[in-house]
Amino acid sequence: MTRNPMREARSWPPAPTAVADFHRRMPAYDPSLLFDAPDLAADLGIGRLLIKTETRRMGLPSFKILGASWATYQAICAHMGREPGPWENINDLAAEFAHLKPFELATATDGNHGRAVAFMARLLGFQAEIFVPTGMAQARIEAMESEGATVTVVDGDYDDAVARSSQEANERCLVVSDTSWPGYEATPAHVIDGYSTIFAEVDHAIDATGLSHPDVVVVPMGVGAFMAAAVTHYRDDHRGPTVIAGVEPLDANCVQTSALAGAPTQVPGPHESIMVGLNCGMPSPIAWPRLAAGVDWFVSVDDDAARQAMRDLADAAVVAGETGAASLAGLRALLSDTSAIDDLPDKGNATALIIVTEGATDPCAYRRIVGRGMDSVGRVVTAMR
Ligand SMILES: Cc1ncc(COP(=O)(O)O)c(C=O)c1O
Repeated sequence: MTRNPMREARSWPPAPTAVADFHRRMPAYDPSLLFDAPDLAADLGIGRLLIKTETRRMGLPSFKILGASWATYQAICAHMGREPGPWENINDLAAEFAHLKPFELATATDGNHGRAVAFMARLLGFQAEIFVPTGMAQARIEAMESEGATVTVVDGDYDDAVARSSQEANERCLVVSDTSWPGYEATPAHVIDGYSTIFAEVDHAIDATGLSHPDVVVVPMGVGAFMAAAVTHYRDDHRGPTVIAGVEPLDANCVQTSALAGAPTQVPGPHESIMVGLNCGMPSPIAWPRLAAGVDWFVSVDDDAARQAMRDLADAAVVAGETGAASLAGLRALLSDTSAIDDLPDKGNATALIIVTEGATDPCAYRRIVGRGMDSVGRVVTAMR
């Protein structure tokens, strides 16, 4: 674990309010659950633990659809050179975009983003071409295929899949990537904006119940797009100080490595963590300035810590996949490190927020790790929303 040597006092403009309005018109949109986990809070030695569960978002098992949907919409508008006509729901939107067919969306993924892009393509009546690293669990590939996507396994890791997907762009194919590269920045920036809905929902639920806003927020990091959204939200000028910690796997901690080096730095693979959504060797350039200046602590966790967090979350009635559980593993590591205590002087009364970003996307692995199937984990009954 390390304190960020590049931290600066600065803020960023908030995501446009049009994002939340767009998401409200998506099928099965509902704010995801935020709830209080008093037993886990006591175990961690803090006053309150708030868990935001992105385990069922618009019918998909991760938060990624929030970024993929908004970025897809924005990319298509840019491609058409205009906004669509008035629309109320996804069927209206598909009709507005129908003249583009045959049309395709492409991306690289380590699972969840690709499924979300494939889902958007299906809703809009487009094809989807998804590139994945070697070794991806069959359940995750099948989940993308179930959306009608063509899945191509690239000989290499996630970064190789990104390079391969970038070659797909043409007049009839838009690349909807959550990471950026030189000359390809607008869509990944919209992905970051899309994630803002999560933090807007958290604020809304907290304000509605009169609880205090979090003193510490813990977010998992792959290429860092999701963390960039967290930094944008919590480094707002009008907020009090919020400690922000980013969690990465030990052998793919590219954001931490980059911050210590003072510039984006590749962490070479193979990246073999079970937290597959975080197996990235390079931060997204478009996210990097916010990661470098906005995060307080970088926490690297091993797979055993992720497994323990999955079991702890199951005991709290949350079905979290390996990547989804990383934020709890990171919070535990942060709170047990004495050097971080200075940032949380009143630790016993502190409120922490973790985002469980993924459900059990590999049900067989889930059963093996947690010792029971996801259906036997209870249900949260007292969510704040
Ligand atoms: C479930 C889950 N959580 C967190 C992340 C990390 O997001 P980012 O790559 O934007 O840092 C990912 C990325 O794929 C993911 O799938």
